[in-house]
Amino acid sequence: MNDMTPTREQRTAALEGMGCKRKRVEDARFTQGKGNYVDDLKLPGMLHGDFVRSPHAHARVKSINSEEALKVPGVLAVITAETLKTVNLAWMPTLAGDVQMVLADGKVLFQNQEVAFVVATDRYAADDGINKVVVEYEPLPVVIDPFKAMDKDAPVLREDIAGKTSGAHGPRKHHNHIFEWTVGDKDLTDAAFRKAEVTIKEMISYHRTHPSPLETCQCVCSFDKIRGELTIWGTFQAPHVIRTVVSLIAKLPEQKIHVISPDIGGGFGNKVGAYPGYICAAVASIVTGKPVKWVEDRIENLTATSFARDYHMTTEIAATKDGKVTGLRVHVLADHGAFDACADPSKWPAGFFNIVTGSYDFPTAHLVVDGIYSNKAPGGVAYRCSFRVTEAAYCIERAMDILAQKLKIDPAELRLRNFIKREQFPYHSALGWEYDSGDYHTAMKKMMEKVEYAELRKEQAEKRAAFKRGDTREIMGVGVSFFTEIVGAGPSKNCDILGIAMFDSCEIRMHPTGAGIARVGSKSTGQGHETTWAQIIATEIGIPADNIMVEEGNTDTAPYGLGTYGSRSTPVAGAAIAMAARKIKAKAQMIAAYKLEVHEDDLEWDIDGFRVKGLPEKSMSMKDICWAAYNSVPPGMEPGLEAVSYYDPPNMTYPFGAYICVMDIDVDTGVYKVRRFYALDDCGTRINPMIIEGQVHGGLTEAFAIAMGQEIRYDEGGNVVTGSFMDFFMPTAVETPHWETDFTVTPSPHHPIGAKGVGESPNVGGVPAFSNAVNDAFSFLGSTHIQMPHDYWRNWKAAKNLGAFAA
Ligand code: CDP
Repeated sequence: MNDMTPTREQRTAALEGMGCKRKRVEDARFTQGKGNYVDDLKLPGMLHGDFVRSPHAHARVKSINSEEALKVPGVLAVITAETLKTVNLAWMPTLAGDVQMVLADGKVLFQNQEVAFVVATDRYAADDGINKVVVEYEPLPVVIDPFKAMDKDAPVLREDIAGKTSGAHGPRKHHNHIFEWTVGDKDLTDAAFRKAEVTIKEMISYHRTHPSPLETCQCVCSFDKIRGELTIWGTFQAPHVIRTVVSLIAKLPEQKIHVISPDIGGGFGNKVGAYPGYICAAVASIVTGKPVKWVEDRIENLTATSFARDYHMTTEIAATKDGKVTGLRVHVLADHGAFDACADPSKWPAGFFNIVTGSYDFPTAHLVVDGIYSNKAPGGVAYRCSFRVTEAAYCIERAMDILAQKLKIDPAELRLRNFIKREQFPYHSALGWEYDSGDYHTAMKKMMEKVEYAELRKEQAEKRAAFKRGDTREIMGVGVSFFTEIVGAGPSKNCDILGIAMFDSCEIRMHPTGAGIARVGSKSTGQGHETTWAQIIATEIGIPADNIMVEEGNTDTAPYGLGTYGSRSTPVAGAAIAMAARKIKAKAQMIAAYKLEVHEDDLEWDIDGFRVKGLPEKSMSMKDICWAAYNSVPPGMEPGLEAVSYYDPPNMTYPFGAYICVMDIDVDTGVYKVRRFYALDDCGTRINPMIIEGQVHGGLTEAFAIAMGQEIRYDEGGNVVTGSFMDFFMPTAVETPHWETDFTVTPSPHHPIGAKGVGESPNVGGVPAFSNAVNDAFSFLGSTHIQMPHDYWRNWKAAKNLGAFAA
């Protein structure tokens, strides 16, 4: 070895593989304004479409008159439900087995529902045209409060299915009922409650909110009449699924549909579903023969595309006097809005809400979820969480605090007493999941040590004494949260979308010079897949990450994948990438053995190539093997070096984390200060620690927004009162607290590289940490549970109701 020979450390570092804080390669274009988003697309002759929307939450549509609109210069067409009926597209199927109006057909069911689509030569003309469409409405009584949706005299919302006694998920109990979903053992759970020494019961609401990606939902549709081909550029988190859905509903052969998701400015679940804008733009392009662009504005996005949460969870825990939980009973009233357009795997009407037993060893549990219709926008997306997991985590984490309060046991101590123990994994939960791995006690204790938990509680006691003496008007809250996520949908045995199993895929093609391209079925909306996917390949096959180009989002080139949401990319696509790389490596080993004139079994892997066992100087680098793959493969072997993997995971992955929030609230103004927020995450093997930290910062910021004010609120008439960024809380760097991050590593035993997802975790764990901090502060004034969101005004009102202003 001469001085120039790189050391093993240098060779490993040169790869920038797993564990490296590799800088995000996509940022070169994003930070220089060179990203290529849907709205950057300008095609010759392109038209623009925009919607006439309903001002009413519930009304009969008596007539639509487009005469004046068609006189506006530049307006070419006004599409209504009647137009769509001629091509059988007035209604579309939803992912949840329901149907949804594309354009108002006889009535409207929520404010801002799409009524007509105006097509014009530019966006301004389309907007002028909208103002000239005259729609005559006859207002109807509205259902906004979910608790009144199933009243005997509640108005019939869905006249199209009013007489149907069953839906996609079984029997319906009422004309506004969608489904009842039951999991767990009722008898055993009832018995646990009968025997319980202590019980708690609370209605815990998770309010309706909405993802807010920088870029709204949008598309450009271009139909080529000569070839009979439809190309759609869109903000799709799951482009292949969109292609299949378009093929099925538009009856176009799938090979004649090209779906391209270019750069996407954030998704957070908002861009999973199919929206009327996509259908109308496609129909308009077919009708006019020109490309048609549809771009939502912010108010449209907040009020009409998929909402999140709106879960009202009556929660009961049975326990012993010394704080051992013995049973959990939850009833959820789930408000799905006007159509059931929930984006969940087909068989899961309430997503994976049955993770609600959380990180605790509940011997028995019983869960019932009732889905209902209301006069609100449809949807029910996993806003930065796996399907309904954030609702479940919030439910159990609030309930555990309420139990701690009742038992006068410290909330951290209560959790430690009930955690699933490390030796219990793989752990079978009372509601049917198999948790793959976990070490909750270690994570919790690390968190408590790092934040000096005992000191915090001492300080809180002193502050409370000072408040009583009248020396301060601030109350201090310490919010503990420990969550278990379930991500990586999912095993084909229990997860599909419209009958397509939820696998994912990767194709790797190595070029002669030792560079390559990896095409993946996932689709980054900003999570840095181009960076991290190359890192997995770098470690697996010893080619520097810089030499691997990653491509996603084009259905013509990427292998079929189920897309990116619910932190499924790393658990599923990440596994497919590792498996495809291993196929490359296996062929490379045969080529190396042939070139080095030894048997394959005499070779061993060494960072970036193969060497002969016992003769380390006899070796061949992966770079040289790539060259050999194109000129001197063993006789009988096909030349080239490429591989495809479709990965069907054997199980989901179960990341977890311990979070703590320290907050002071001024009772006279309701103003809060987040003094400290510490987040420890365990996502198994860490591919890129810098990207993980970024994911945690982003997720915590969204959790902060949701817990402390972000809400889609309706008045009694069904008007959205928080439908713009004037009213919908969107924290900037000014309001956002400082985040402290930490980690432990408990690899997933079934994932090829031991990785679990992470992107959603901070939202799942963050919301209960904030809410528990607020509730912990107010518990001192005698409250048990204050509903989110905890904005200044609500904090002030809570303080007032709890007598904080008494003389
Ligand atoms: O599905 P999505 O991409 O939203 O979520 P994810 O699988 O949690 O991944 C988010 C980002 O974090 C990706 O760039 C991953 O490669 C990265 N990540 C990581 O570096 N290590 C992990 N164990 C998990 C995710």
